[in-house]
Amino acid sequence: MLKTVNFFFMPRMVIIGAGRLAQALAGWARLGGYELAAVVSRDPRRARAAARRLHARQGLALGQPLPPAELYWLAISDDALAGVARQLARSHVNWRGRVVLHSSGLCASTVLQPLARRGAATGSLHPLMSFAQGVRVQPQGVLFAFEGSPAARRLARRLIRHWKGEWLELSAAAKPAYHLAASLASPGLVVLAAAAQAAGLRRLSPPYRRKLRQGLMALLAQTARNLARPGSLPKEAWTGPLSRGDRRTLRAHRVAARKLGLADYYRAQLRLARRLLP
Ligand SMILES: NC(=O)c1ccc[n+]([C@@H]2O[C@H](COP(=O)([O-])OP(=O)(O)OC[C@H]3O[C@@H](n4cnc5c(N)ncnc54)[C@H](OP(=O)(O)O)[C@@H]3O)[C@@H](O)[C@H]2O)c1
Repeated sequence: MLKTVNFFFMPRMVIIGAGRLAQALAGWARLGGYELAAVVSRDPRRARAAARRLHARQGLALGQPLPPAELYWLAISDDALAGVARQLARSHVNWRGRVVLHSSGLCASTVLQPLARRGAATGSLHPLMSFAQGVRVQPQGVLFAFEGSPAARRLARRLIRHWKGEWLELSAAAKPAYHLAASLASPGLVVLAAAAQAAGLRRLSPPYRRKLRQGLMALLAQTARNLARPGSLPKEAWTGPLSRGDRRTLRAHRVAARKLGLADYYRAQLRLARRLLP
């Protein structure tokens, strides 16, 4: 008699959240060796639409029974983590032997304690990358910062190997400063770009605005490339009036910044430059 053998077994992953990071993780699931069993959102319609778009088996509303999986990944806002962890811990899932990860750069894995108490191995795995709506990012080369239990670490390491990502291990105490650094580098850069555009585009007609916007973005991209040269320090990428000591130009900038409502921002920048780029 012929026996049917299941040669092909793929562990399952459930993603809780349907936002920007959740979408990226869903796209990476197979590459990581996982079948995407479900995507979960508070809004059932959003969950179903996300499941269709992201090729998950199911789209579930938060509170509905979750399918069994090896890995449950909470890709939700930091502030919601504790409440959702409590809610999941009360659910019917047998958490023993499961791994639960979250991706907050700030919160420690202890925010998942209610699940750890039910037997889950918990950890935080934060990709040091920016996931904007509509932009596809691949995991290769991305730095992932881990903090958590040994069993969660084993699974996370395997995942990062599959993804060809970079590994960084953090203590819970190091996370606030680590995440501040990430926030200064990425959202901080977006604020800086918005301030540069607000200053430059004000008095221009639409076709010139477009041109200047492109020019400013090219300037920003080249500055990032200058900063990213291997082994180089920020001061080696530093140009501009303060680096040259052009006092008259700096005075004119201060007046313009005041008129544009950017005086505090500009002053803080100069103060930091004097301290950090001597
Ligand atoms: N985006 C990035 O560049 C990036 C990079 C690294 C790490 N992360 C981390 O990834 C996590 C998610 O960030 P994101 O950028 O993907 O955020 P996002 O696009 O704003 O999505 C946030 C998700 O959180 C869910 N949510 C919000 N409040 C909730 C609540 N009270 N209960 C349950 N679910 C709730 C939303 O679910 P509904 O669908 O139910 O509304 C939504 O799916 C954060 O911890 C963030 O630090 C993000």
